[in-house]
Amino acid sequence: MISKLFVVICILFPQVLTDSNRYSFPEEFLFGVATAAYQIEGAFDEDGKTYSIWDYNLHKNPDWVKDRANGDVACDSYHKWKEDIQLVKALGANFYRMSIAWTRILPSGHAGSQINEKAVLHYNNIINELISEGLIPMITIYHWDLPQSLQEIGGWMNPDIIDHYVFYAQTVFNLFGDRVKHWITFNEPYHICEEGYSGVSMAPFFNASGIGGYLCSHNVLLSHGKIYRLYEKLYKPTQNGQISICVDTQWYEAKDQSSDSDKEAAERKLQFKYGWYMHPLVKGNYPEVMIERIDKFSEQEGFPKSRLPKFTESEIEMIRGSYDFLGLNHYTTSLVEPSQNFSQPSQNYDTGVQASDDPEWKVSEASSWLKDVPWGFRKLLVWIKEEYKNPPLFIFENGWSSTSGLMDEDRVRYINGYLSELLKAIHEDGCNVFGYTHWSLLDNFEWLEGYGARFGLVEVDFNSPERTRTPRLSYKVYQNIIKSRIIN
Ligand code: NOJ
Repeated sequence: MISKLFVVICILFPQVLTDSNRYSFPEEFLFGVATAAYQIEGAFDEDGKTYSIWDYNLHKNPDWVKDRANGDVACDSYHKWKEDIQLVKALGANFYRMSIAWTRILPSGHAGSQINEKAVLHYNNIINELISEGLIPMITIYHWDLPQSLQEIGGWMNPDIIDHYVFYAQTVFNLFGDRVKHWITFNEPYHICEEGYSGVSMAPFFNASGIGGYLCSHNVLLSHGKIYRLYEKLYKPTQNGQISICVDTQWYEAKDQSSDSDKEAAERKLQFKYGWYMHPLVKGNYPEVMIERIDKFSEQEGFPKSRLPKFTESEIEMIRGSYDFLGLNHYTTSLVEPSQNFSQPSQNYDTGVQASDDPEWKVSEASSWLKDVPWGFRKLLVWIKEEYKNPPLFIFENGWSSTSGLMDEDRVRYINGYLSELLKAIHEDGCNVFGYTHWSLLDNFEWLEGYGARFGLVEVDFNSPERTRTPRLSYKVYQNIIKSRIIN
């Protein structure tokens, strides 16, 4: 029976009546929604929690963020988590992707430090409730909220961080691994490192251009490899879970399709953005093009050695194959072409490309970086399939931001468009994708954009002390897709 909602959607968005409507999501395909601790929890100093790099920096200098917003209260999910879980359940999702706050579990941050029992109780309650509601808990171990105490020693730029991270990750395996079977070691290493340590658009706003991102990424990759091997040896035999990492991706399209140099620039950008992480995991080392260019430029600049650190043979062995499946976040696409206009060491300078947009693309009214280009998603999936021999892939995030309102037609168009392309990638291109996560369940603290950029399927009223939650049109549309397993 054709529902009224379907008729309304077809009238509003005739493009949903494309070929992909013939396809359905495989029976075992998983659907879910995602959030992250700092973005939703609030309760920034409750029950023994200490400052993360976000708490610290936004208290010290509120001007980092639009409207001087911060995550002190956010969606108040620390107290309203039961309501959140009910929303996930009513959506019909299979899983809930959430993160654990390091600063709650280990308030002192460092390896060997004491576990905070109140935090353990809190996350146990959430995990148990998810399971009793038939939902799979999918846990991100690190979603950007490093304990400030560890930033004081250099954060992700100091190799000592590896031991601290490994201790923290083992702690959460020990505490929750009997019930949690899906772990994500890191959310978006490029953002953690390039934006946080080379640049200033993420905490800790370190600004070591051309160096910070490479050092940080090296330590993130080593931490990931080390914890994967430990899990494999010590936990997998009894806990039998799976581990992934969530790499941020964007599709880079050659600006001029007939230009070889634009095509090369696009390929270079893909390698410099996520080959940076996927290459070591799948092939064992950084992409050749990164190694060659950064080594060469470092020598020209008179550095005593390359700005890109080197893995030892045993580190390569440790990192290669350290995943049960690959995960990615994907939101948007850019056009690229070569550029020589960068004057000092930076990732853009090393990559040698510049990006632009097609003026025809629809841009989010809330986030200027976000353009609705669904075909880029399919091209990306095919590129990964070809580059990495069709690995099992999980989409950990995809979503659209708006300013406000319950009738979020833009988000509906985005979801239908991206999921249609995903269906084509699965059915026509043979891509091995087995799960999709919408970002986000709720409007939340969108980092430097504060509360103005709303990514929620559910609207949150940040002016009400109750942080009232109201599902949007997109919630119902996604609910219908999950139920029917087709774009309808
Ligand atoms: C990726 C990040 O993981 C998430 O924290 C963020 O809110 C979304 N992208 C939207 O920008």
